[in-house]
Amino acid sequence: MKISAVLGKAAEIKANALVLGLFEEEVKLRGAAESFDRAAGGVISEVLRKSEFSGKLNEITCLSPKKEIGVSRIVLAGLGKRAEYNLDKARQAIGKASMFCRERGLSDLAAWADAFVDTSIALDELGVALAEGAILALYRFSKYKTEDEDQKKEVSRVRILTENALQLSSLRKAVSYAELTAQAANRARDLVNAPSNEITPAALADHARKLARDRGLKCQVMGPEELKRRSMNGILGVGKGSANTPRFIIAEYAPGKRTGAPIVLVGKGITFDSGGISIKPAQNMEEMKGDMAGAAAVLCTLDVVSQLKLPLRVVGLMPAAENMPSGTSYKPGDILRMASGKTVEIVSTDAEGRLLLADALHYASKYKPEAVIDVATLTGACVIALGEYASGLLGNDQALIEKIKRAAEVTWERVWQLPLWDDYAEPLKSEVADTTNTGGRPGQTIVASKFLQKFIGEYRWAHLDIAGTSFLEKERPYNPKGATGVGVRLLSRLLTDWTR
Ligand code: BES
Ligand code: MN
Ligand code: ZN
Repeated sequence: MKISAVLGKAAEIKANALVLGLFEEEVKLRGAAESFDRAAGGVISEVLRKSEFSGKLNEITCLSPKKEIGVSRIVLAGLGKRAEYNLDKARQAIGKASMFCRERGLSDLAAWADAFVDTSIALDELGVALAEGAILALYRFSKYKTEDEDQKKEVSRVRILTENALQLSSLRKAVSYAELTAQAANRARDLVNAPSNEITPAALADHARKLARDRGLKCQVMGPEELKRRSMNGILGVGKGSANTPRFIIAEYAPGKRTGAPIVLVGKGITFDSGGISIKPAQNMEEMKGDMAGAAAVLCTLDVVSQLKLPLRVVGLMPAAENMPSGTSYKPGDILRMASGKTVEIVSTDAEGRLLLADALHYASKYKPEAVIDVATLTGACVIALGEYASGLLGNDQALIEKIKRAAEVTWERVWQLPLWDDYAEPLKSEVADTTNTGGRPGQTIVASKFLQKFIGEYRWAHLDIAGTSFLEKERPYNPKGATGVGVRLLSRLLTDWTR
């Protein structure tokens, strides 16, 4: 799908459909909308007068103009009440409208940006939201469908239209930024939705190598032998039960051979989490193919960062393994001597993500990083606490956390901070080793973070628990069921704004 920003008149642009937003309880058209309506023979004012369209959020209606204009269909998208409007409602409305058009075989769309404007939001941010909404909503994971006719309907072009010449250049910038971030989020979705028989740790490493080649990144992949030499027994221990051996994937973006302190992103890359010997119940276990969503987010963020050519050094660390039960698996009661030298008593082999991350967080110290942010589908408790609407956020530096919160508001990849109080380390006390890997279910999101904290170095650190936000059981306005690509837009925005 091609997307661009264009200058033109709504009544003149040639396309299959013109999409415009309308606020609830605003039945009188004004300004440009009124003249457009007149050009179209008054079809919009007519449905408003007859109360056939109320403007409720995500309400959609399709009209045929009564006078000849450039488009054959007008698609009205409800924006809800103006007082409650925000960037995400714009994203949702255009997302819904795009999917609606695709279903009806309307493949060439013009979305009239001026009809989504409100004084409460900046136009450049609105442009990003509109383009993202369309790209994210039109995503489909169809690679494995061989006989579904519906899948053949595609939207081939979306133009974000403005009638205001002064706004064109900022709209252009916004659309090209959104194109990078939303396409990268869609690639992360592809990786997360792909089955674990295709995305093994080695295959994930191949994806990283390919991206590195395309974007001029440095890339290093450690296999089992090298992991052994480096005593990365957290990663090795988790991967021991699987025929698909673990990898530690390192990708680096360093513009102009920049050598200063980098920002290090760490992503959990469990390509399938069966729970291991502490095996999970069968129900929904298939969703555990998505337990590498953190690694996918980190990899696809590097894609964005390198295309934006940000003036920052960014390192991605992606420890990858498959957590399986077998005769060679690590077992409850085992004690692992981690890369940092600390010993861990395994209480549950299903608390595997933190073991992998511990070795990676320890490794991160060697970069003397400016900050480290890890992203992981870490705990079921986070799904219980925050649902699919917000990721858990914890860390040791409030300024870093506030930065992440700001990026989360604009991208609507929302986060909610949880405390990192020392009390939550108590359940991790072990009789026989330095720590256990889990202390039962209460407060797991925080307890798991306290475990991670034992392995970080002298650096500013934040942890994002995306267990609830990375995978949807039901579709949302711009997200089909399944992977969300969460983290990519958030981290891209964070890094884009980093130096400002
Ligand atoms: N990958 C899971 C967490 C998860 C659960 C992600 C649901 C996405 C959806 C993680 O490895 C795990 O199994 N965590 C356990 C830890 C427990 C054994 C202490 C959990 O949260 O139940
Ligand atoms: Mn697990
Ligand atoms: Zn897991």
